[in-house]
Amino acid sequence: MEYRTDVTRNSGQSNDRDRVLDATDIVDVVGDHVALRSKGREFVCLCPFHDDRNPSMYVVPVKQIFHCFVCGAGGNAIDFVMRYHGMDFLEALKFLAEKAGLELTRRERQPRSAAAGEQAAVDYSRDDLAAANRVAASFFASILKHPEHGAVARDVVERRGISADMVEAFGIGAAPARWDGLIQTIRARDLPEAHFLAAGLLKAREQGDGAYDTFRNRLIFPIFDQLGRPVAFGGRIIDPEDTPKYVNSPESILFDKGSTLFGLPQAMAGIKQKRSVIVTEGYTDVIACHQAGVTNVVATLGTALTDRHARLLRRLCDEVILLFDGDEAGQRAADRAFEVFFLEPIDVRVTTLPDGQDPDELLKQAGGREAFDAAMERARDAVAFRLDRLEHSLSGHDYESASRVRALEEELARLVELGLHDLAPLRRQALLRRLGRVSGLGEQAVLAAIPHRRRAPRGGETSGPEDLDAGGSGGSSSGRAPTVLEHMLGCLLHDPTLISENREVLDDILTRGDYGSDPAGRVAAAVKKLVGLGTPPGLSEVLGVVEEPSARELATRLALHVASITDDDRERLIRHWASCVARLAQESGVGRQDGEVSARDALVAGLARRQSAHRERGTANAPVLPRVR
Ligand code: UTP
Ligand code: MN
Repeated sequence: MEYRTDVTRNSGQSNDRDRVLDATDIVDVVGDHVALRSKGREFVCLCPFHDDRNPSMYVVPVKQIFHCFVCGAGGNAIDFVMRYHGMDFLEALKFLAEKAGLELTRRERQPRSAAAGEQAAVDYSRDDLAAANRVAASFFASILKHPEHGAVARDVVERRGISADMVEAFGIGAAPARWDGLIQTIRARDLPEAHFLAAGLLKAREQGDGAYDTFRNRLIFPIFDQLGRPVAFGGRIIDPEDTPKYVNSPESILFDKGSTLFGLPQAMAGIKQKRSVIVTEGYTDVIACHQAGVTNVVATLGTALTDRHARLLRRLCDEVILLFDGDEAGQRAADRAFEVFFLEPIDVRVTTLPDGQDPDELLKQAGGREAFDAAMERARDAVAFRLDRLEHSLSGHDYESASRVRALEEELARLVELGLHDLAPLRRQALLRRLGRVSGLGEQAVLAAIPHRRRAPRGGETSGPEDLDAGGSGGSSSGRAPTVLEHMLGCLLHDPTLISENREVLDDILTRGDYGSDPAGRVAAAVKKLVGLGTPPGLSEVLGVVEEPSARELATRLALHVASITDDDRERLIRHWASCVARLAQESGVGRQDGEVSARDALVAGLARRQSAHRERGTANAPVLPRVR
């Protein structure tokens, strides 16, 4: 079977998506990550997209969709994978295809005027770089086993007490002590050097043509992404005279240091099981911890934690323990961690090991594991660190002095910048109470001193459709109750055959000005477009053409909402639709200025009459008024 990889959201070619989805049960995708509970034809599971111990995500296998009734996340399997793994559309498609054992074949790229220039500059993809890294990883692994070229590196591994199991689990390898080890392999296999250059495995000669190996005479630690793809390498010196101590792959389209954690795929099971992660500073620390049986351990790549790390980790667990080598570094890092994790619903604690040791050193000693566990036990809340620092800086000023007040105001302004106003209410209250205590001013005074919201919007991350956030509706906390028109959209998405009976009103409903470019408007436009193409506008078809995440979520939510209130029963669906139409007609009459009747009103009224005639013929019982505003 052939699959095209150039499916775009707006192409209207929903078939490609559907074919992949047909073969890939979404339960399979979600089931890998979240425990599922069966509920008839649906499954309910913990939602991985917000922090909650109660199952709130519904997965409907027959419809290939998911929807969380708490945070509003929803869509099809592709949406799930994009969100969960932070992939773009094409990556998610490939991921699913691979899972389903389908092969995606590339279709000739059509020249696109706008993007053509950019496209030409980069003639390799992430997959190309991942493939190059895979070749390199197996080359390095084979060197470590090589009787001659790997001998010195094997000595180092042995001296450090790294077990064969760890060498295997972490894919540890070695780069030979020469300029042309990897490149010879590349040439012998006739692989594209450009991809290895782009991945930073080769470097171009400054003078003349050609390239040489980046990693020479080093112990190699491959760095994998969440999916187990090698995205970079860390190379540690073997010869103590060499510098620098570590050479790391440069960042690339495949490798973003600030969102990558060393050891994540190896630690995933341990993290999920303990709902807690320990973040260390070094590659060798992670390996030593795993070897000692502490498996929920990862490391940053020689950098501080970023907000991307924070988001990644809060999806996986409830607690982060940051483990630092030295007390002073620990203090600074605690402060930073407090800021990075401020809005994330996750507990952050910070700890150091005795005598400034790192985990690798400590765990090799007798009683090391006990000392390590004790350090985890005494890990201290990052909020407490922050408040200590504030208390310390306030203590330098006279009580009620202007400078003391200013110091407190500065801290409050910083907290507002970090998003104090968006902090979950209970967390905010707890923080304010502690601030009141530390400052000696009391909670009320602190509360009164908080500046008003003045925070730059955080790019990228949206937790759910904004316009659904106001108010609650019966049973669902994902937003306000749908409007009449949204109910009608939900009916169509749930059962697009409704269209054939209601052609007349449809156009009018779909072009109503009130939709605009909000999510409902986008869903309506997609329905209209599909109807124009002669395609029934069911949910999966609509998800094939709607791009905007909040609109995709709304479509999923509306279809599921209608399915649940009509119990998947067609009679009830028709009654629901009819009462929506009646309601719409009634609303149109309200507030009319001069008795003028628009064409739309006439149509809606006509439809309402037809529907009630339908009912009188005995098709259904009395109409059920929908739960609409
Ligand atoms: P360390 O110097 O503590 O090294 O750097 P280590 O991991 O404990 O290694 P051993 O035990 O001495 O062999 C901690 C981390 O900082 C990054 C690496 O990620 C390293 O694991 N680092 C360090 C670099 O990226 N470049 C360097 O030159 C040094
Ligand atoms: Mn070390």
